[in-house]
Amino acid sequence: MRLGAARFVAGTTLDECVAVLRRLNEAGLHTNTTLLGEEIADHAGARAVVTEYERILDRIAAEELRTNVALKLTHLGLSFDAEAAYANVEWLVAHAARLGNFIRIDMEHSGLVDATLHTYERLRADGHDNVGVVLQSYLYRSEGDLERLLPLAPNVRIVKGAYLEPPTVAYPRKRDVDAAFVRLVERGLRGGAYVAVATHDERIIRHVQAFAAREGFGHGRFEFQMLYGVRPALQRRLVAQSHKVLVATPFGPDWYPYLMRRLAERPANVLFFLRSLVRR
Ligand code: FDA
Repeated sequence: MRLGAARFVAGTTLDECVAVLRRLNEAGLHTNTTLLGEEIADHAGARAVVTEYERILDRIAAEELRTNVALKLTHLGLSFDAEAAYANVEWLVAHAARLGNFIRIDMEHSGLVDATLHTYERLRADGHDNVGVVLQSYLYRSEGDLERLLPLAPNVRIVKGAYLEPPTVAYPRKRDVDAAFVRLVERGLRGGAYVAVATHDERIIRHVQAFAAREGFGHGRFEFQMLYGVRPALQRRLVAQSHKVLVATPFGPDWYPYLMRRLAERPANVLFFLRSLVRR
């Protein structure tokens, strides 16, 4: 952690993370947090994660942070027991509701999209409204998925997508991913969704600002979301323009795969990381 990961990960413990969340809140930023980890392999492991998330939600409430939670269903057991994962996430969503908080279900690799969307739809059918979902613009299917979700007036985060997917399911070319991202945001806003525009792509951010202004979508209909440690000056600039900006701020001892995804996204990050190794 000391060797550079701390740029992207808010520590290994909840105490360390709370200090970072508070600092971000004080700068006018909203936050979400995630206990890093995925692909839990047994019931006991998934139950331990649920207990940890309860503790996180209680601590957020006690500290009066402007922070919600984003979690992965494979961290709650989806890989080996979909029913158990549903029971776990429903328990946490209900707990968050009692505390006036919100839970976002992250989207993982393409093989899990059906199960993840089904979980979201089932939660909504069971009366839970304090829950949101994610669609990835690199997947050909996402525009169809958005149409299916729109009658629920979903809180949907749009991302480009972070997993290595084959061209049979995902656009191989970046410009197609970018164009699909914009279409999803525009369709989401026009279709009545609350849209979390999760990107560091300034061109897309400017496009969304212009589109929203032109079509009369106020700042209450969408927010920008970015990752902790990525483009912090842009985050603050958008706050100064009175946009809601949420910084996804993960923590936990299992930070390694997350860090590798961030490094893979941008070769310059590897240089940054190596330089911090050399300096120590
Ligand atoms: P793109 O990769 O085109 O980058 C645009 C510009 O942003 C770059 O030129 C660079 O300046 C900057 N930038 C991007 N990444 C950077 C980095 N790591 N370090 C430094 N600069 C960087 N994915 C997923 O599959 N499921 C999910 O649930 C989520 N959830 C999620 C939440 C939030 C809040 C964010 C911001 C992102 C996600 N993602 C995700 C990840 C997403 O799919 C994508 O991999 C990253 O956001 C990077 O793509 P950009 O949209 O930033 O564009």
